[in-house]
Amino acid sequence: MNEFYQKDIISIKDFNKEKLEKIFTSTDKIIQLNSTDRREICKGKTLGYLFYEPSTRTRLSFESAMASIGGNSLGISDISSSSTQKGESLADTIRIMSIYSDALVLRHPLDGSSRFASEISEKPLVNAGSGTEEHPTQAIQDLFTIKKEKKKIDGLKIGIIGDLKYGRTVYSLLYGLGNYDVDVRLISPESLRIRSDSTYEIKKRLDFTESPHIEDHIDELDVLYVTRIQKERFPDEEEYLKVKGSYVVGLDLLNQMKDDSIILHPLPRIDEITADVDKTKNAKYFEQAEYGKYTRAALLGLILNKNGF
Ligand code: NCD
Repeated sequence: MNEFYQKDIISIKDFNKEKLEKIFTSTDKIIQLNSTDRREICKGKTLGYLFYEPSTRTRLSFESAMASIGGNSLGISDISSSSTQKGESLADTIRIMSIYSDALVLRHPLDGSSRFASEISEKPLVNAGSGTEEHPTQAIQDLFTIKKEKKKIDGLKIGIIGDLKYGRTVYSLLYGLGNYDVDVRLISPESLRIRSDSTYEIKKRLDFTESPHIEDHIDELDVLYVTRIQKERFPDEEEYLKVKGSYVVGLDLLNQMKDDSIILHPLPRIDEITADVDKTKNAKYFEQAEYGKYTRAALLGLILNKNGF
């Protein structure tokens, strides 16, 4: 039996290198299969999604991934049109969705929401973003992108810049990178450094340095992972305004980078990468978004098929 069959995907901490590499191999298989064979993988299966926070890429990539492997999707992307407005609890909503679906995808503003939901759901549950805590499928997509574009992960120097305090993709990426031999540079304003309650866990997994100055590291990086300042998660707008626009990656910075370095971003981008970077060979964030569809198709194919595909 394949080890992902009927399993929840709650935290990237549950993934060792071997598991990640299995997903990457299955993703390569998805990419190589012709569309007819691909559609056999989850033929007749239903994915249920519940998004309690805005999403473009994550929800659409799950939907498009499910369609590409022959399944269908149903769900709620605008919670204001659901019975949550009438006072229905998350627990009841999950119970109902798990009756109508073969697997569930949940995005919710609370840390711990996915773990809680997985205990209620009769069907496997995939965390598509739980508060500021984690976004494991984004990390799988990010690691796959690095592997595809740099041909390896081990040995790379990786800079992660922006909102390291509230950006959940940063935490999942760091835990995931902990499976590899990488050198990590964290670059953020002082007030947006990684949360101290996670520092111990991250230190156990990998070596990193922290600095507010991108200039200190820019010329040595193989990968620059840029993140958005998470305006909606600041308890106080004044604090947001102090750090808004802290970093802007433009052609001037790019010119200081190694010729074969790559720039990633989980998206949405606000103003932290200028549009003229998009057409350079280093910009890989749109490829990253495309890989998200394939990694999610692979994951769903593994979760929903006893013997894999
Ligand atoms: C991210 C998220 O929701 O955490 N978006 C995404 O899924 N690609 C990043 C963000 O919102 O900044």
